[in-house]
Amino acid sequence: MKTLVEFINERQADFPYATGEFTRLLNDIGIASKIVNREINKAGLVDILGYEGSTNIQGERQKKLDVFANEHFIKALQHGGQVAAIASEEEDGMIIYDNPTSRKGKYVIAIDPLDGSSNIDVNVSIGSIFSIYRRISDIGEPANKKDVLQPGNKIVAAGYVIYGSSTMLVYTTGKGVNGFTLDPSIGLFILSHPDMRMPDDGKIYSINEANYIYFPEGVKKYIKYCQVDDKATNRPYKTRYIGSLVADFHRNLITGGIYIYPGTTKQPMGKLRLLYECNPMAFLAEQAGGKATDGFFRILDIDPYDLHQRAPLFIGSKNMVEKAEEYMLEYSKNFCELSSPSKSCKDCEENEKKDKQ
Ligand code: AHG
Ligand code: MN
Ligand code: MN
Repeated sequence: MKTLVEFINERQADFPYATGEFTRLLNDIGIASKIVNREINKAGLVDILGYEGSTNIQGERQKKLDVFANEHFIKALQHGGQVAAIASEEEDGMIIYDNPTSRKGKYVIAIDPLDGSSNIDVNVSIGSIFSIYRRISDIGEPANKKDVLQPGNKIVAAGYVIYGSSTMLVYTTGKGVNGFTLDPSIGLFILSHPDMRMPDDGKIYSINEANYIYFPEGVKKYIKYCQVDDKATNRPYKTRYIGSLVADFHRNLITGGIYIYPGTTKQPMGKLRLLYECNPMAFLAEQAGGKATDGFFRILDIDPYDLHQRAPLFIGSKNMVEKAEEYMLEYSKNFCELSSPSKSCKDCEENEKKDKQ
């Protein structure tokens, strides 16, 4: 039986920037998760369900648990002193910990403190998502926005907590993905899923199909592909959509599958947030052998320009994501510029050249 703390300590030496600080930071995330988990588990018994009465910067109504989780992650991470600043889905701007200890902190963090808010009140799985970057501003100075506006390929660690039929913490430091299950009787995360690998293929597609009429043609065609009767390729696939990215991703990580939240004609950049949702999950997916793109480009290579920018997300089993990308390229080239504004579309240019030849 190996605990999260033992595992983190043991792996410290594997990590290129092996310092006790990083180890302490991961442990603080584990502690914050347990506090949030405790509150979620008694949600029906205490006055923590429902709306807080406020909205976040994205205009979404905040649930009480969104606010609770946000406050607790922020407090726990400040307490340790390794973090210089934190960006959160629930905060308009960066929270810069401007005190002498935190100014020396080497890391900045992006969090989605509570993912799947619509599932809180109905006792369905929800999660928390985090990613850790090394700051680029000078240590000793207050951190700034640029520290967290780094592409996902600069993430040093990312993970999520899923509050499901059991509570699990799944994380990576760029050397594979490991999962820990919380044993509530002793209050410890225990290594239960060592070296998690995402199957190259799967039978599940997860998408909010109610938005079908707004989807790019490539997504519409891919959905039809998933529904074709073809025994050789295990089709028709099954639809599974929980509405918590963490839970949908976690299932697909274990069983194989694809999760898509595409850009739509109403919201060309989709709904999910690049910093708090797409990047950490993309890093985990790749570390488990899966793939994550915006339909055209690798998520982790997108240069962020805004704390709360969105990105379309195609994530999951490698072969399934590649198949969906084929459809996007064939039928929805026009979406490329809309949904990947920070990229020059080399694939499209090459395709156009080929078409002309
Ligand atoms: P959050 O609760 O952090 O705002 O995230 C919700 C996200 C994601 O978890 C989920 O997959 C998606 O929004 C669901 O959106 P739809 O209800 O539009 O399908
Ligand atoms: Mn979320
Ligand atoms: Mn959230």
